Amino acid sequence: MMPLAEMAEAVLRTADGREKTALSRKFAAEWLSARAEGARPEVGRADPPLHPARPAKPELLSPREVPRRRPGTPEGRAALLHAVAHIELNAVDLHWDVIARFSHVPLPLGFFDDWVKAADDESKHFNLMCDCLEEMGSHYGAMPAHAGMWRAAEDTVDDLMGRLAVVPMVLEARGLDVTPGMIKIFRNAKADSAVAALETIYSEEVAHVAYGSKWFHFLCGRHDEDPKDRFHALVRKYFHGDLKPPFNEEKRAEAGIPPDFYWPLTADGGSTKN
Ligand SMILES: [Fe+2]
Ligand SMILES: [Fe+2]
Repeated sequence: MMPLAEMAEAVLRTADGREKTALSRKFAAEWLSARAEGARPEVGRADPPLHPARPAKPELLSPREVPRRRPGTPEGRAALLHAVAHIELNAVDLHWDVIARFSHVPLPLGFFDDWVKAADDESKHFNLMCDCLEEMGSHYGAMPAHAGMWRAAEDTVDDLMGRLAVVPMVLEARGLDVTPGMIKIFRNAKADSAVAALETIYSEEVAHVAYGSKWFHFLCGRHDEDPKDRFHALVRKYFHGDLKPPFNEEKRAEAGIPPDFYWPLTADGGSTKN
């Protein structure tokens, strides 16, 4: 079996979305089945690209240039699914990148198991969104998407704790806040396959946030640091802007993110909470 970091690099260097997720799922199955049998396969080392390979389409625009469409129309709903597909493809690369980028850091193998599992989930999520788009007569690449989603990875390229604070504990936690509203839009439109796909995504994303919180706390413990203070310092350093309520406090709690982690990072420092 190829060392895990080399698998990660191979996924990062694959441009086409469906090919990237197929390779990602194949590698994840190899790693996870070896681990289930009690093996301790090699993590190894890799030379991941600063930017992962991506397909020629979608065209990447700055968020201000991406046309806004209203979710009350089929075009608007297709645009919403397209945006989620784009987020999921980025997430596939983000999870393989944390493996490849930080393979030199001595960590329990369980750290790598978690991100392999998360990458496998994101690969499934991307495929689900592509299936829904294709069912509507569209496809991933049919409309422009946000540039700049890789910024969090670039900013934290040499800081594992910063990466965990910003990617799973801020960006993926935000997904828990907004997904229920999205499910409602598709339920109202009676778009059953999109509802089912988004519900799968919603239920599986909690674990990704929880992996982030688990390993962030692990590293704080290793360095004898206060997790809340460290989290605030890292988010202020690497995340551009305030965290925006309303928060899904129930799912955030399930994922191991307590209120005093995120409320102080809102525009008014949490004085309006409750
Ligand atoms: Fe996902
Ligand atoms: Fe995720």
